Amino acid sequence: MKFFVDTAEINEIAELNDLGMVDGVTTNPSLIMKSGRNILEVTKEICGIVSGPVSAEVVATEADDMIAEGRKLAKIADNIAVKVPLTWAGLKACKVLSGEGNMVNVTLCFSANQALLAAKAGATFISPFIGRLDDVNIDGMELIADIRQIYDNYGFETQILAASIRTVNHITDAARIGADVITAPPSVIKKLADHPLTDAGLAQFLKDWEKTGQKIL
Ligand code: G3P
Repeated sequence: MKFFVDTAEINEIAELNDLGMVDGVTTNPSLIMKSGRNILEVTKEICGIVSGPVSAEVVATEADDMIAEGRKLAKIADNIAVKVPLTWAGLKACKVLSGEGNMVNVTLCFSANQALLAAKAGATFISPFIGRLDDVNIDGMELIADIRQIYDNYGFETQILAASIRTVNHITDAARIGADVITAPPSVIKKLADHPLTDAGLAQFLKDWEKTGQKIL
């Protein structure tokens, strides 16, 4: 399973990238706003750190404008994935931009039928938003399972990028179902290492080690 980091914060991306934990990055207009940076500048900087796909989202709502924005974003670096929303205009932009050889991430997916359309429009990635479905009492993970089954039934190569990940359990479940990629905030990725028994075990080892009076270095 690939790990994308869902942020436009350079320091956080660099820290996880140094650990080999970053296979790609996803951004969106809200994350760009949060970073306080210019989209073109910060995206270029991210592409200089991470060699995997870096999603940069269009903000136009008409297909032709999305295509123009997508072409501009794609020029930032070779590893840009143009992100378009799952609307008919977005699907049209997806078809054109992917046909021109760009990676395209179709975002704001909330149903299996939407995911089917994205695959048919040539999307590289489909981004179902798990957390936002959970927020309205719909099981987001069921959507991941449905898309997995549908894509496998027909051999669609579009990668399932489980997004709006809020908890470590979301990551376990997405991995169990077979999502190709998860994108999560750095804080959630870091929490994957935590376990109270690890902390307790380490504390006991250190206490016992102190009693030996030994040093390794
Ligand atoms: O990747 C999409 C993600 O940024 C949305 O997450 O937590 O705002 O639903 P959230």
